[in-house]
Amino acid sequence: MRRALALARRGWGQTAPNPMVGAVLVKDGVVVGEGFHAKFGAPHAEAMALAVAGDLARGATAYLTLEPCAHEGKTPPCADALIAAGVSRVVVAVADPNPVAQGGAKRLLAAGIAVEFGFEAEEALELNAPFFFAAANPPRPWITLKLAVSVDGAIASASREPRWLTGEAARHYVHRLRAVHDAVAVGVGTALADDPNLNVRHGRRPRVAPLRVVFDRTARLPADSQLARTARRSPTLVVAEQPEAGPVTALEQRGVVVLTTSGLADALRALVERGVRSMFVEGGAQLAQSLLAAGVVDRLIIFQAPVLLGPGALAAFVEAPSVDRFRVVERREFGDDLMAVYALNELPSVAAPT
Ligand SMILES: NC(=O)c1ccc[n+]([C@@H]2O[C@H](COP(=O)([O-])OP(=O)(O)OC[C@H]3O[C@@H](n4cnc5c(N)ncnc54)[C@H](OP(=O)(O)O)[C@@H]3O)[C@@H](O)[C@H]2O)c1
Repeated sequence: MRRALALARRGWGQTAPNPMVGAVLVKDGVVVGEGFHAKFGAPHAEAMALAVAGDLARGATAYLTLEPCAHEGKTPPCADALIAAGVSRVVVAVADPNPVAQGGAKRLLAAGIAVEFGFEAEEALELNAPFFFAAANPPRPWITLKLAVSVDGAIASASREPRWLTGEAARHYVHRLRAVHDAVAVGVGTALADDPNLNVRHGRRPRVAPLRVVFDRTARLPADSQLARTARRSPTLVVAEQPEAGPVTALEQRGVVVLTTSGLADALRALVERGVRSMFVEGGAQLAQSLLAAGVVDRLIIFQAPVLLGPGALAAFVEAPSVDRFRVVERREFGDDLMAVYALNELPSVAAPT
C-alpha cells in the first residue's frame, strides 16, 4: 500500500478535482502491475496497473489507495475491470465518499472477490484531504495556512522590510504545495508589503494554475502590483467587502476579478461556488488570525527558520485563539529550516461499505 501511495503522488497537481490514486497488483509475492491516475481525464490507476499486468492479473491481489469506482465516467468502471481481469483479492486504503462513484467494493464482493479496507488509511486521507472534505459539500474550501516564522515566533522584522526567512529548499517546497491547491491567498497587508506573485515557478506545473486570491475589503491592491499586472495570465481575485468604484475599475481593467462579499464566511462560500475546493493561505498575521479565530484552518504548516527577528517584530500569532495539543501530521527538514504540519481540524471519517 505504501508503494501505491508513492505512485499516487506522481499525479501531484494534475488530477483535481479527482483524487490522486495509486494501484499495485501483486501475485505470488511479486509486483505484476502498477499504475496511478496521471491526470484528470486520463485512465484510472487500476486500468493502468491491469494493462501492465495483462494475464498475470488473474489471481492477483490489488492494493488500491481508494475504493475502485463503480460508475461510467470519463473511463469505464474500475470495479468491473478488476472483476473481468480475475483479480482474487482487493485491499483498499479508504472508501470512496463520492456518491456518484462509490459502490465498487459492493460490486467486487458480489462477484466473490475478497475486499479489505483501512490499510494506511490516514496517509491516504491526508493525501487527498480536499477531495474527502469536499464530499460533504461544506460551505468553504479545505484551508491550509502556511507561515514562515523565526525562532522567536515572528513573521516579519520591526522594519517590515521584505526578506526571506527560510532557505531555498523550503521556498521551493512551498511552490510544490501551491501546485496542489485550487487557490493561493494572502491578506492585502502582505500584498502591499511584499508585492508577491504567488504563482508556481518551481517544480512541475499544475494542470490548472491556482487562482490567486487577495483578502482586501476596500480593494486597496495597487493596479501596478505584480498580482494585478499579471492577472491576464494568472487568474486573480480580490475578495472585497466595501470596495470603492475607482480602484475596482482600475483592477478590472487589469483583468482582476473583484468579488464583493459580506464577510469571511460569505467569501469562503463564494470561493466554493467558483470551484475552489482547497486554498493555501500564505499570511500575513491578520488574515491568519481571522481564519484561526473562525476555526477554518484545517492544516497549519510552520516553517521555522534559524533566525531571531527581535524587538518590534510582527508576531505570527498576535491574538490567535488558544488551541489544545493538535495532531502532528508531518515533520521535515529543508536544509536548516524545520517544517511541521499540524492538524487543527480532522477530516470527517469515511466508513467502509459493509
Ligand atoms: N513570514 C511569513 O510567512 C509571512 C507571510 C506573509 C506576510 N508576512 C509579512 O507580514 C506582514 C503583513 O502581515 P499583516 O498581518 O500586516 O497583513 P495581512 O494579514 O497580509 O493583511 C491584513 C489585511 O487584510 C485585509 N483583510 C481582508 N479580509 C480580512 C479578514 N477576513 N481578516 C483579516 N484581514 C483581512 C485587512 O485589510 P482591509 O481591511 O483593508 O481589507 C487587513 O488589514 C508583512 O510584513 C509581510 O512581509 C510574512
